[in-house]
Amino acid sequence: MSSKKELKIENHWLFGYFKPFVSKRVETLRHISELGDVTRFRLLMGVNYMVSDPELVGQVLLDPDNIYIKNRGFWSRFDDIFGQGLVISEGAIWKKHRKLMAPAFQSKTVQTYFSSMISEVDQYVENWSHGQSINVHQSMMDITLNVLNACLFNVEFNNVKSQVVDCIKQLESQFALRVVRPFGFQSTWPSKINKEYWSALSKLETIVKQFITNVREKNDDKTLLDKLVNARDETNSGLDDSEIRDELITLILAGHDTTSITVSWALYLLSQNSHLIESLREEWSTLDPDNIDYGSLVKLPLTRGVLRETLRLYPPAYIIGREPLVDTKIGNVEIPKTFAVVISPYAMGRDARFYDEPDQFIPQRWNEDFEKQLPRFAFIPFGGGKRTCIGEQFATAEAAILLWRILSKFNIEYTDSKPLQPAPVMTLTPAPFSLKLSRPTS
Ligand code: HEM
Repeated sequence: MSSKKELKIENHWLFGYFKPFVSKRVETLRHISELGDVTRFRLLMGVNYMVSDPELVGQVLLDPDNIYIKNRGFWSRFDDIFGQGLVISEGAIWKKHRKLMAPAFQSKTVQTYFSSMISEVDQYVENWSHGQSINVHQSMMDITLNVLNACLFNVEFNNVKSQVVDCIKQLESQFALRVVRPFGFQSTWPSKINKEYWSALSKLETIVKQFITNVREKNDDKTLLDKLVNARDETNSGLDDSEIRDELITLILAGHDTTSITVSWALYLLSQNSHLIESLREEWSTLDPDNIDYGSLVKLPLTRGVLRETLRLYPPAYIIGREPLVDTKIGNVEIPKTFAVVISPYAMGRDARFYDEPDQFIPQRWNEDFEKQLPRFAFIPFGGGKRTCIGEQFATAEAAILLWRILSKFNIEYTDSKPLQPAPVMTLTPAPFSLKLSRPTS
């Protein structure tokens, strides 16, 4: 892991932190967070406020006075993709959709996904062989898409999967531009890049609309998608096709990339600490795949510690943004309305006030005593408050199953001579990397 001392992060008199934010994104966030509990900083002309004191972070995320919305300055660049999906909607629409979708993500429902999750992972991993090198992030994205479909949609997916993957790749390749464009993204300009983008989005929409039509014809009530299609609220109004489209695209994007990144980083970190793989196998040796519940897997101390430590070091959602609707105060800093309030789970996770040796991977640190004294909002990979991640338990179960099923069957070796680096865009993706697989000898 690179030492932050080697990095020079300059606050330019004209551009502010824009340049290092583009080239050394997470290091810049960490640097700013170390300047104070609430720090005003500029990216070109855009003024933002970084909050890095856990209590103040809690104040923003819990939002008892209902003064914050998600950061429009940022999310409005993605309206054409997410529409009114749960990640960016507000007010009555957000409330109605969250209420409708929440039951599908409660632990007792996640428990019912377990056997599908295990069988999807096993089916995929079965095709791997001794001596093979796998493109880790790509494979994890593939598996997590299969799991998402098996658990939440159950539509005919194999025949369109490669198209869905291509569309997502195309969209994601242009997220990078949208994230850093200083004056918003000119998405209506008919440039080559925009045309490719529109074409990918329109293909994805066609596929998603076909899913909706098929589900409507089936008229089932089993999966989350069935429920969205057949939803009726107190006033007997359900979701229209465009609302279902928005939620489906939101779930596809928010529900597979984040988990695949977490497992990719965990596998890399474990490849550098192979003694831990042995200890994990011991922990898992008591599990029975045919009779397993959520708690018995994700509460295993080392499994839990590995996942928490991975999310602390490499939280996929490395920035959380809010926008106050009225002038307000955080700590003793005045925040004018509509200015961006930024919280970084990455910077919080590497803060030496809360974590000894913050850059080291030490899963064993997550014991009861440590967690008791850790301030509540010092570990926030899934956010907090009412906008907390709806898929936390789903993702935790899936990530634990992936580690268990992969590492029970294979040893992993990272053969590159250089340490793996993050290549963050919307999420904290690792740079492309491979792991060489081998069968354990005993
Ligand atoms: C390790 C995996 C994951 C991480 C680290 C993660 C992280 C997050 C974070 C930090 C937020 C809150 C953002 C904010 O407050 O602005 C969030 C929201 C959300 N996540 Fe996740 N997520 C993960 C997996 C999932 C999965 C598996 C799903 C669905 C299948 C999902 C769906 C969502 C949705 C729909 C929201 C918006 C919730 C709302 O605003 O009501 N996430 N996620």
